[in-house]
Amino acid sequence: MEKSASNWGVAAVPDSWNFKPNERLLGLMSLSVRGVLARIKAEMVAAGGGGGRPVIPMGHGDPSAFPCFRTAPEAVDAVAGALQSGEYNSYSTCVGLEPARRSIAQYLSRDLPYELSLDDVYLTNGCAQAIEIICSVLARPGANILLPRPGYKFYEARAVFNGMEVRYYDLLPGKDWEVDTDGVQALADKNTVAIVIINPGNPCGNVYSYEHLAKVAETARKLGIFVIADEAYAHLTFGERKFVPMGVFGAVAPVITLGSLSKRWLVPGWRLGWIVTNDPSGVFQRTKVAASIRTYHYICSDPTTFVQGAVPNLLENSKEEFFQKTIKILKESADICWEKLNGINGVTCPSRPMGSMFVMVKLDLSCLQDIKDDMDFCCRLAKEESVVVLPGRVVGCKDWLRITFAIDPSSLEDGLDRLKSFCLRHSKPAQ
Ligand SMILES: Cc1ncc(COP(=O)(O)O)c(C=O)c1O
Repeated sequence: MEKSASNWGVAAVPDSWNFKPNERLLGLMSLSVRGVLARIKAEMVAAGGGGGRPVIPMGHGDPSAFPCFRTAPEAVDAVAGALQSGEYNSYSTCVGLEPARRSIAQYLSRDLPYELSLDDVYLTNGCAQAIEIICSVLARPGANILLPRPGYKFYEARAVFNGMEVRYYDLLPGKDWEVDTDGVQALADKNTVAIVIINPGNPCGNVYSYEHLAKVAETARKLGIFVIADEAYAHLTFGERKFVPMGVFGAVAPVITLGSLSKRWLVPGWRLGWIVTNDPSGVFQRTKVAASIRTYHYICSDPTTFVQGAVPNLLENSKEEFFQKTIKILKESADICWEKLNGINGVTCPSRPMGSMFVMVKLDLSCLQDIKDDMDFCCRLAKEESVVVLPGRVVGCKDWLRITFAIDPSSLEDGLDRLKSFCLRHSKPAQ
């Protein structure tokens, strides 16, 4: 029998239904890196894309597909061992397995002037869920949160979705993307609850000095707010400045550190992250923030148990050579990026990247003909050259680009050469 609705008794469709989607969600697509990159790629494919050349993905921060960015063998052994042991097939405890939390507390304490305990650590599905939880915990009616611009728009999406007001402070391109602390003070009021900093920075490739982080902590203290330190790119630095965790200043102002295995271990698909309270003065206990984070874990999902089970061996056994190799390739790529970008007419790069996987590049539209804006630039670059980069508007800066250099160096050189040909082809003729 033919399959038609009338054959199996489906009633006529009513004119109206009681349900509707949550309208807050509908406006959030433009805030998603993945959503915008998917649109650029779809347009590229529809247009037949760049003459069949391989696509160079300089838009998103996941280098794990490139053989030169494989994770540490000890990390793989740790997960395989946890899986084979048969001990990690159950549901996990709500805030995460104790051995994993204890080993993260010890790992992070190495760089702090005090010791964290396992009670300071809450495990999450990657750093993304850590952001999701913190935004939910803070979202009381009327509250506002200070976010960096340019920044990582996932914070805005999660804050807005929870009904929280977002206020943007500027990062200063002429000062290695430091926080504009005067601007922060002007923005905050009695409903401001926290300031987010991302160090090493996405999208700017900045690495903050000890002195600058101290200034941020003093500013937070003055305002009576806490610092959310997104350290997803912790230790991925390749300039003169070494990574300093914000938790060092936990006694000046309370700090919540967000992190994950994703970037340092090159395994974003393993989905293991953490929220850590750095608060030697016990402010988070007194204000019940710690209790709220714990309670939230009762109403959300946990990271996969066998990945949690692998954490102690993974942290203990990963070798320095693995970390050094990643840094060496990132440094080589960042240098290539800086040098090649400086030779392209139509783009300027205000600051050499010192960490993370990204650099911000300003478009000079007055040198380019028939390019309307950053979105137009990225769509046409993808169609004509099969090179995918992120329009700056997605990180809060219209007519800028965010370029990731965390791809294998030879593809990066190819991608930047194609970017140069594109800019040359679209350059305005000299007057
Ligand atoms: C600044 C920043 N925070 C958080 C995340 C999310 O990290 P994860 O992959 O561990 O969820 C990312 C991912 O790109 C990021 O760039």
